[in-house]
Amino acid sequence: MKEPGVFVSLEGIDGCGKSSLKEGLLAYLGQYQVISTREPGGTSISEKIRALLLDINNEAMLPRTEAMLYGAARCQLVDEIIRPALVDGKIVLADRYMDSTLAYQGYGRGLDLDFLQALNALCTGGVKPDLTLLLDISPEEGLRRRGKNIPDRLEKEGIDFQQKVRVGYLHMARQEPQRIKVLDAGRNLDEVLAAAINYIEPLLMLKQNVSRETMRSSL
Ligand code: TMP
Repeated sequence: MKEPGVFVSLEGIDGCGKSSLKEGLLAYLGQYQVISTREPGGTSISEKIRALLLDINNEAMLPRTEAMLYGAARCQLVDEIIRPALVDGKIVLADRYMDSTLAYQGYGRGLDLDFLQALNALCTGGVKPDLTLLLDISPEEGLRRRGKNIPDRLEKEGIDFQQKVRVGYLHMARQEPQRIKVLDAGRNLDEVLAAAINYIEPLLMLKQNVSRETMRSSL
């Protein structure tokens, strides 16, 4: 990112533990100005689109409709929240971003990846994470962690769908190893958090001129 802020996104299949990691990272980053977002959602319009997307009654939704709704929600979030925060020099911690569309609608649903790349470019205006942490876990473990919560429209797709999404994510990580770092999310939260911090620290030092000692003291 050319903006002064730091942009970190969290990705992974359903049940990979993004929410718990996000909580841990927010505690670690407590002394900074951090904006935390989720997708789909994060603005009043995007939250309405989220409700449409996850509603189990919307069984007739086409994959193309789905892709464009995710894009529309992202468009609004980038312009209202993410870009202004980065211009202000803040840290943005995003629970899902553009890679989710490639993984779920591309590798999961089978939509054309070039079409989705173009959609992402249009919706993000080129705002790309400095770092993406991919929480890798088996679909079976993801399902187990989701427990007895009622599944939403995407979660209802089942294990085979999640497996395709996982394979897609790992493929993307191999294509962009500088940006996308794979974390073994099968470990306990403290270990995953420590691994995540190891990737975030150098970025903070680079972009926000923070010394390692200052950062460690916030742990
Ligand atoms: P969440 O459960 O992490 O809040 O995400 C909501 C669901 O939306 C999850 O199953 C992943 C899915 N999703 C997509 O299919 N494409 C996208 O672009 C995004 C952001 C999420």
